[in-house]
Amino acid sequence: MLEAQDEMVEVETQALSELQRVQSTDALENFRIKYLGTKGKLKDLMSLLGKVPKEQKPAMGQKVNAIKQKLTEAFDARQNELALQHTTPRDVADVTEPGQRPQLGARHPLMQTIDELTDLFARMGFAVASGPEVEDEFHNFVALNIPESHPARDPLDNFYLEPPVAHLQSSTSANAVDSAPRSRDSRLLRTQTSTVQIRVMETQKPPIRVVIPGRVYRPDTVDDTHLWMFHQLEALVVDMNVTMVDLKSTVMQFVKAYFGPDAKVRFRPSFFPFTEPSAEVDVWFADKNRWIELGGCGMVHPNVLKQVGIDPEIYSGWAFGFGIERIAMRKYGINNIRLFVENDVRFLGQF
Ligand code: DAH
Repeated sequence: MLEAQDEMVEVETQALSELQRVQSTDALENFRIKYLGTKGKLKDLMSLLGKVPKEQKPAMGQKVNAIKQKLTEAFDARQNELALQHTTPRDVADVTEPGQRPQLGARHPLMQTIDELTDLFARMGFAVASGPEVEDEFHNFVALNIPESHPARDPLDNFYLEPPVAHLQSSTSANAVDSAPRSRDSRLLRTQTSTVQIRVMETQKPPIRVVIPGRVYRPDTVDDTHLWMFHQLEALVVDMNVTMVDLKSTVMQFVKAYFGPDAKVRFRPSFFPFTEPSAEVDVWFADKNRWIELGGCGMVHPNVLKQVGIDPEIYSGWAFGFGIERIAMRKYGINNIRLFVENDVRFLGQF
């Protein structure tokens, strides 16, 4: 009898101290098999009961049950402790922590500027029009009253897409490319959004009141204010009795609405083949203490109206073409035009 009791006490003490040393789930499982399993030490204790005298059985039985309960509870507790120790941070979600903001994309600052500009002109009654970036010489030059001999048509100042005919015939002289006559159908990347004036007038009859935002291409040397590709905002109004006064007042209204009531506007006489008279528009910015050029404007040349079948004796029109990068750079205080095309999120994220 004493033997049996001693053995019980020993199993219990041994089990509890072993359990304290268990550090892994594998070791814990071994412990379970050794003590609590179907062939474990507790089972052995149960079989001891068969050997004790009958009258002591109930007391001994209770004792074994008490040990079993104690070991099972200690086992569960150790299992929980180990589970907590081995939890990696990823498995724990603290729902009271502030969340991590996902990085959201946004509209490009130039596109935002275009939206602002077209919204503003929409409020002044202008519709939005667009045209192709790959143009023919007719729309880029001929219809805009730019003659064959005009320097603006020089291949060095344009991105032509097809080599001229002479170039195909003679590959010996590089000069042949530059001096070759071009067909009216030569294609090029448009150098100005004025092309779309023609496309609009080919399909619509006056009254016309449109703005045309779009990309244009010129082989300039890249620097802080020049890129090979940039954007222009073109405007065209054609109706009866349209005068230079309409042009000037519209431009002044636009500049004040967009840049603020203190912005001053100046018109300088200039020359463009497709307008007569022509002017260049500057805006005075008091903080910079200087004039900044926005672009050109003028009264649509009668030859241009004639080209698209609009009678210049009945109708007149005005137009302008402003640089959108200039406008955005001024509005947001950007000093390098390259930032618009470098896709640096540190720049783009500010808008
Ligand atoms: N197309 C001209 C340029 O790119 C700008 C321009 C001048 C547009 C006068 C116009 C205009 O509509 O009337 O330099």
